[in-house]
Amino acid sequence: MAGPDKLLVIDEGTTSTRAIVFDRDFAQVSLAQQDLTLSYPADGWVQQDGEEIWARTLAVCREAVAAAGGIAGIAGIGITNQRETTLVWDRATGVPIAPAIVWQDRRTAKACEALKAAGHEAAVHAETGLLLDPYFSATKIGWILDSVDGARARAEAGDLAFGTVESFLIWKLTGGRVHASDVTNASRTLLYRLGIGADGGWSEEMAALLDVPMGMLPEVKPNAADFGTSDADLLGAALPILSAAGDQQSALVGQGCLQPGMAKITYGTGAFLVANTGAVRPDSQHRLLGTVGYETAGGAAMALEGSIFNAGTVVKWLRDDLGIVASAQDTESMAAGLDGNGGVYIVPAFTGLGAPHWNADARGTISGITRATSAAHLVRAGLESAAYQTRDLLEAFAADGAQIRELRVDGGMVANDWLMQFLADICDRPVLRPDYREMTALGAAALAAIQLGWISVKAWTERPVAGTRFEPLMADAERAGLLKGWQDAMRRTLA
Ligand code: G3P
Repeated sequence: MAGPDKLLVIDEGTTSTRAIVFDRDFAQVSLAQQDLTLSYPADGWVQQDGEEIWARTLAVCREAVAAAGGIAGIAGIGITNQRETTLVWDRATGVPIAPAIVWQDRRTAKACEALKAAGHEAAVHAETGLLLDPYFSATKIGWILDSVDGARARAEAGDLAFGTVESFLIWKLTGGRVHASDVTNASRTLLYRLGIGADGGWSEEMAALLDVPMGMLPEVKPNAADFGTSDADLLGAALPILSAAGDQQSALVGQGCLQPGMAKITYGTGAFLVANTGAVRPDSQHRLLGTVGYETAGGAAMALEGSIFNAGTVVKWLRDDLGIVASAQDTESMAAGLDGNGGVYIVPAFTGLGAPHWNADARGTISGITRATSAAHLVRAGLESAAYQTRDLLEAFAADGAQIRELRVDGGMVANDWLMQFLADICDRPVLRPDYREMTALGAAALAAIQLGWISVKAWTERPVAGTRFEPLMADAERAGLLKGWQDAMRRTLA
């Protein structure tokens, strides 16, 4: 009898958690999804309930497995997740001691400013590839340890564990037997010495500077590795956990960007442009991040990243908060129905600005409105902001010597044809959109398949990706005029 020939991927994102079953040819067999609750208890605070993340993730896994014909066909699990989001839990119970602090949360802005003022940023950048910004996990850990009664003493005594979401899910899946993370997630904590293989590792220097007890940290493994075995009672049988990777790096793998120079951008809650730099450890001089791209026994790469904090959130805000569009799909016809943007710009700094500005205190602006501004103009300005922010990143990449000649895109927003054409026009580069859009989950499936020996890194790199190509068509003068409008709006936002 043939053995199990499918893979279960957990794709735990910021706004929803999903489970997707893939067959051995990487075709999607089933998908289940549940939204996650985000709460905003104060300006700049964004948090989630770890137990809800776990319960909903387990529920979607059960649903996807059932829809794929049952557990007997599943060979193992791959995990990919929103990065940086910080959980601290009790080792005895597995229960978080505080809400998860989401990557977008700015509550530790002052702590980061104080570290910058004390002159630590250059050393932090040299060691971790990152910057002193509340985005990353370490200051969030510090906040939890200092605001929950007795937490710091318990952490120092070894009673508490830290993890980003993949680590928490591995803990829950294995009933607390495994406390592990992977190199891509670890490289987003501010506590990891940036490097591949033996060059990387938890940094005692950073842990001391950021006051995080080393005993809380998980064991770090490559992306395709043995992350333990799930408890049999959870899904009906014990399954090996074969891969773990942060969602942006997983999409890099999914898009097949395993060669130096290849890049992708994923438009999810935020948007993240990641370029493979091969064995070269990036050292950005233009406020981009150095991070681990992927690591397996058969190949590894470093990466340069530009992080946009708000992309898909703009559409969600237009729909759920302003109520000026009924569905995300409707944004396409509303934007396309206008002759131009009417001079209206939205800079969606809802939670500050990421690369290349790194301004935790900035808040969003709408500018250029007149009596003629309609709901459609606001929708169009919201969509356009994703393209302008991408263009700003491409310029920072170019200044760092990374020329990105074409944009491989994925994520929810890329279903919008109008936006894809506008993106190609504003960035003045071809945009390549794959037919299969779940590149984040696909990357985790590929890593799990690599761990099983089902496919090699080389074969994955050579696998053709079918899709649509959008060529830039806009006249230079029109592009220049739009970009000037955006730059003025950005200046007002940062003023
Ligand atoms: O760094 C944050 C990122 O991993 C979140 O991804 O897909 O929720 O925008 P996403």
